[in-house]
Amino acid sequence: MKTIIEPFKIKSVEPIRFTTQEEREEVLRRARYNLFLIHAEDVLIDLLTDSGTAAMSAKQWSGIMEGDESYAGARSFYRFEAAVRKLTGLKNIIPTHQGRAAEKILFSLVGGPGRKIPNNTHFDTTRANVEFSGAEAVDFPTKEGLDPDLRADFKGNMDTTALAAFIEKTGRESIPLCMITVTNNSGGGQPVSMRNIRETAEICRSHGIPLYLDACRFAENPWFIRQWEKGYASKSVEAIVREMFSYADGATMSAKKDAIVNMGGFLALNDDQLALRARNLLIVTEGFPTYGGLAGRDLEAIAQGLEEVVDEHYLHYRVRSVEYLGEKLTSAGVPILQPPGGHAIYLNARKELPHVPPDLYPGQALSVELYRAGGIRSVEIGSVMFGKYDPQGKLVPARMELVRLAIPRRVYTQSHIDYVAEVMIEVHQRRSEIRGYRIVQEAPMLRHFTAHFEQV
Ligand SMILES: Cc1ncc(COP(=O)(O)O)c(C=O)c1O
Repeated sequence: MKTIIEPFKIKSVEPIRFTTQEEREEVLRRARYNLFLIHAEDVLIDLLTDSGTAAMSAKQWSGIMEGDESYAGARSFYRFEAAVRKLTGLKNIIPTHQGRAAEKILFSLVGGPGRKIPNNTHFDTTRANVEFSGAEAVDFPTKEGLDPDLRADFKGNMDTTALAAFIEKTGRESIPLCMITVTNNSGGGQPVSMRNIRETAEICRSHGIPLYLDACRFAENPWFIRQWEKGYASKSVEAIVREMFSYADGATMSAKKDAIVNMGGFLALNDDQLALRARNLLIVTEGFPTYGGLAGRDLEAIAQGLEEVVDEHYLHYRVRSVEYLGEKLTSAGVPILQPPGGHAIYLNARKELPHVPPDLYPGQALSVELYRAGGIRSVEIGSVMFGKYDPQGKLVPARMELVRLAIPRRVYTQSHIDYVAEVMIEVHQRRSEIRGYRIVQEAPMLRHFTAHFEQV
């Protein structure tokens, strides 16, 4: 059969609220045209993020009731530990309340002034935790990965030639570990090939540098490997996951993505000495090593989610529904980052609104218009988020002006996705009328969360 269906039945539903165009205009005015400041109740389809927004299964909810809330040695911890170890093969499994807590612990221990951390592309919390420790975060995306229009496989790869040259120049002593982010979120949710992971691991190993995976989307990445990479078509997703982790010495994970839960994370690593120090820090910052900032019920839900996420019907539906939205938009002429990634579609606002200059924020204009037209919440990933000011106070724009439509796991059906495409295509047809926005109030850091805008 050609139709790929949602591989689940819906047992419990949550109503979404329809608003009129006038109501949305008022909501936007009140929120100062910043979609982070809108009440979620006023959103019809929320594509702000795929993090922590998933629908849990009946088995996960029943796991919530089964959770062992003992302070030390809870049964739920051992189930969680076994589930993580089965997939990753890593030795020490340390639960944290979310991904950035694992990053904070790791980089507090291995970071610090003078240290450098290479990555295909650091996610912003990873970069922030590296830099907060005093270390430097260095990205090595490939040339293909930086071209939004190029349709190529594995645009999330690490530039291994540049990485090898960097290690030679910097010296092994300043590089406590190297990371690969799968899939490459900041690079458009693009996957990394097994070959690239293997080559990166070989380079690292030859210099004695441990390789860590930022494993938030550790299941979506193998799905692409299975589709695209020679020799993997007949392998099970679990086998591909295990091979991927076999090249790694450790991993950080936000369970809010590919463990299909609303909260949780972990740090996993083979180095016993480093794990000992990580657990000591965990006790100070997160909690005892058998719960680490989570309730027993959360650990149960993660363990169950890790089993469900490697199901091939689930991954087929998941990746296909993102691709389906991408195809609909592309065939209507809407410019998107190509090819569609694993968890999101990125609209190319610079191409869509060429008449809106960077200092009037085309990404912001497009995302506000999507809300105004159809109650859809997206997020600007452009000069509002990453723009900087030069010493004269002039805006230095971001490299790309994107709007991300992140798809929550198991939440929306095909007709929701059809609706999103219809709204976007309607906006596209009158794109020349869309005006830019001026920032009228902003915080010195992470301004996108709280900035106020006015329409030009
Ligand atoms: C690639 C990547 N790494 C790390 C994180 C941080 O995870 P958390 O939000 O759970 O702290 C995220 C979250 O979006 C992510 O996408």
